[in-house]
Amino acid sequence: MIKRFLPKSLFGRTLMIIVTPLVLLQVVSATIFFESHWDKVSLRLARGLAGDIATVISLMRKNPGQENRIWIFGLAAENMQIEASFKTDAVLPNEPPVGTSIMERMLIRAMREYVGKPFQIDTQTLDRHVAVDVQLPTGALEIITTRKRLFSSTIYVFVLWMVGISLILFAVATIFMRNQIKPIRRLAQAADALGKGRDIPSFKPEGAKEVRQAASAFLAMQERIQRQIAQRTDMLSGVSHDLRTPLTRMKLELAMLRDTEPEAAAELEKDVDDMERMLETYLAFARGEGSEKPRPTNLSALLLDVVDKARRNGGTIDFHSEGEISVPLRPNAFKRCATNVLENAIRYADHISVRAGRRSDAIEVTIDDDGPGIPVDKRDDVFKPFYRLEASRNPGTGGTGLGLAISRDVMRVHGGDILLDDSPGGGLRVRLRVPL
Ligand SMILES: Nc1ncnc2c1ncn2[C@@H]1O[C@H](COP(=O)(O)OP(=O)(O)OP(=O)(O)O)[C@@H](O)[C@H]1O
Ligand SMILES: [Mg+2]
Repeated sequence: MIKRFLPKSLFGRTLMIIVTPLVLLQVVSATIFFESHWDKVSLRLARGLAGDIATVISLMRKNPGQENRIWIFGLAAENMQIEASFKTDAVLPNEPPVGTSIMERMLIRAMREYVGKPFQIDTQTLDRHVAVDVQLPTGALEIITTRKRLFSSTIYVFVLWMVGISLILFAVATIFMRNQIKPIRRLAQAADALGKGRDIPSFKPEGAKEVRQAASAFLAMQERIQRQIAQRTDMLSGVSHDLRTPLTRMKLELAMLRDTEPEAAAELEKDVDDMERMLETYLAFARGEGSEKPRPTNLSALLLDVVDKARRNGGTIDFHSEGEISVPLRPNAFKRCATNVLENAIRYADHISVRAGRRSDAIEVTIDDDGPGIPVDKRDDVFKPFYRLEASRNPGTGGTGLGLAISRDVMRVHGGDILLDDSPGGGLRVRLRVPL
């Protein structure tokens, strides 16, 4: 449940790991500050004011009379920041003062402690000033003082500091994390590109030690894979090439044999032709895959080309492409793959439909036919080199059994795959997937 709300990216997670304790710490320290310090400071300030008011009142009691009041109030204004005035015979409303804010509550408490006479407070009416009225026997004493005397602004400074420091820490963390994540992201992109058989543009190990290690391991692996592929294609083309020479010799010998034993020669000649075709296919495959680099390709145009060629060879083919599709491909290899699949369809079916479209994460080419299809339990086998169902079905139709093996190789080199399915028309559906 919680997982859904957690950030998905490493960047987000790391930031969260840094920021969460930070915010927690701040909230805790702010709470502690409010609980103790803020209360204490407020009470002390309120007591200071209440003490001053008590001093004024006792001075007035000891020095009664209007003349005395003038110098007492002058003293208060000069030394206590208190504006005092006296309203003779005035009576305050007889109700207890109410305080909601900390400042008011503390002032009420301090007034009760130090003055001990009925009083009213007003912290709202005056702008930036506080009024306190005290009931004396002969009238009401009104005291006005600045809010500052009761109010500690340190809390704001404190909060401001906390927020400011958090923001600075957050910004610094963001900048540093970005740089730490970059090499990881680059490594992920490189691995993705390798998996899809695409070019990896200059990739160097960098970043933190562990990331560099992973990158170096990746580069070593990439080299090993490329060496293996190169070795395999080299061997393939080497073997094919070497076999061609004895094959040519055999053909010449067969030509001579034709005069003496025409029937046996015809049989043998057919076998030799098959072998030659096989070798040509291998060679073409080995040559193509070894050197071809992926490049942005207009898949729709490429498929149309393949389909046109197949039509000329006598297939009834529907072709539809969802808009223009451009993907990085090895065009010749991909053409060979599509051609192989289409050749099969033409060979085994009458009506064929080819569709190309974009999926969320891949490009898919679907080739449907209305032929006999391939039984589910044979769908793995037909990808094996030289495996042919025709051996049991209809020995007459030619073919070496390499077509699908090569097609699958091509698709896998692109990081994609070739999948067999039932077509709605009753025949075989072949899906060529290229990841985006
Ligand atoms: N569209 C299809 N309908 C029915 N069977 C198919 C179809 N495509 C392939 N097959 C079966 O799968 C087997 C393997 O196909 P693959 O293309 O690998 O070899 P091939 O077509 O016999 O020979 P090649 O392509 O080398 O000339 C075929 O022999 C055939 O039996
Ligand atoms: Mg084939």
